[in-house]
Amino acid sequence: MKIAVIGTGYVGLVVGVCLADLGNEVFCIDVDESKIESLKKGVLPIYEPGLKDILDINVKENRLFFTTDLRMGIKMSEVIFIAVGTPPGANHEADVTAVFNVAKVIGECMNGYKIIVNKSTVPVGTGEMVKDVIAKNMKGDYEFDVVSNPEFLREGTAVKDFTSPDRIIIGAETERAKKIMQRIYRGIVRTGKPLMITDIKSAEMIKYASNSFLATKISFINEIARLCEKVGADVKEVAKGMGLDQRIGPRFLQAGIGFGGSCFPKDVRALIQKGKENNIEFKIINAVETVNYEQRFIPVKKLKEIFGSLNNLRIGIWGLSFKPKTDDMREAPSITIINELKKEGADVIAFDPIAKENAKKILKDIEYGNTPYETAKNCNALLLLTEWNEFRELDMIKVKDLMKNPVLIDCRNIYEKEELIKMGFTYRGIGR
Ligand code: UGA
Repeated sequence: MKIAVIGTGYVGLVVGVCLADLGNEVFCIDVDESKIESLKKGVLPIYEPGLKDILDINVKENRLFFTTDLRMGIKMSEVIFIAVGTPPGANHEADVTAVFNVAKVIGECMNGYKIIVNKSTVPVGTGEMVKDVIAKNMKGDYEFDVVSNPEFLREGTAVKDFTSPDRIIIGAETERAKKIMQRIYRGIVRTGKPLMITDIKSAEMIKYASNSFLATKISFINEIARLCEKVGADVKEVAKGMGLDQRIGPRFLQAGIGFGGSCFPKDVRALIQKGKENNIEFKIINAVETVNYEQRFIPVKKLKEIFGSLNNLRIGIWGLSFKPKTDDMREAPSITIINELKKEGADVIAFDPIAKENAKKILKDIEYGNTPYETAKNCNALLLLTEWNEFRELDMIKVKDLMKNPVLIDCRNIYEKEELIKMGFTYRGIGR
């Protein structure tokens, strides 16, 4: 099948590369010329484990092409995935301008039956509007279908999430569109993964409801963590015990410094806004956002409890990206935490295995270490902010000896608390 994927951001690029790997001929299209030039040379704009290998194979097999020629890509393709950005608008609603701009060009370039698939996270009702825009801009009388096919991949495990998803959701209206979408994904369905077909609006809603529910789990456990600290319970044990109940499940119950990234914060706010537009005040989702905001201030609070003032203290940071295995700094809790530390007069030195270059664009007036050990040297305290594997197997006695004060705030609860205390650390986790 000939497919165009418009937008080579996180979702678009992974989807394009993986669709090619399923045997389709894929044009990945973007307006950003330098990005496309780099991709043609096999240079990825993002760090995503496993993606480069599949990209190289499919380019070599002549199934994967990169171009800035939107009109050519549309004309050549039977199925067009829209995966352009939907950044937050003035009221936190998802701004779908880019989606509609693309829909207009699709309309103008129609030359036969096509399926237009919305992959971007778009508010409920966008599918219908895309249909109108295409119809209005068509120069002839062509049949087409609009489909909603939300993406559930996570950064850092994106390839695995695409090829082995918990489910594939297809919102479609006609039998023709349903059949073609089933054909595209048959390589994945064959491995036993469920493909659910529903109406377009429900598919759009499933995406927001899923992300907001996962965000709710995180804020819920973060609030439980606060009480655990007061009453002497360990939130890791509590989450484990809760997770054994199959109705609850163990995932997304790790207490920490709140969710970041380009999806949860944005989607939670967009859902709140969509509720408002429909006279619904989301009480739970509003609370999820408030808890998440507050959670980021907890590490600095803990440091102040230990030191009183943070003025002129040297604080080491381990991990900057919003989560491990990505160089993405969007809405990373590290940004708020480091800014708070600076406000309190502390000097900050930070290390991240991958996100350093992206972090430098945002966090300009801090020092950067080259290794976790170098970063720990002469510090009054260390804050583990992102649970990269690199931090799990360090020689912690060496770390302690390098530090001025052996204070460790483990914001992701990755260390054995008792072990570190025995070594002589002043240890604080989250909810332990
Ligand atoms: C999330 C969803 O998990 C994907 O299913 C979805 O496709 C994607 O958003 C999207 O809408 O595009 P992602 O943002 O890549 O994926 O990252 P997650 O692994 O979900 O983590 C989000 C945040 O929650 C991170 O800051 C992470 O540290 C935090 N988190 C996650 C916790 O604090 N505790 C947990 O137990 C799990």
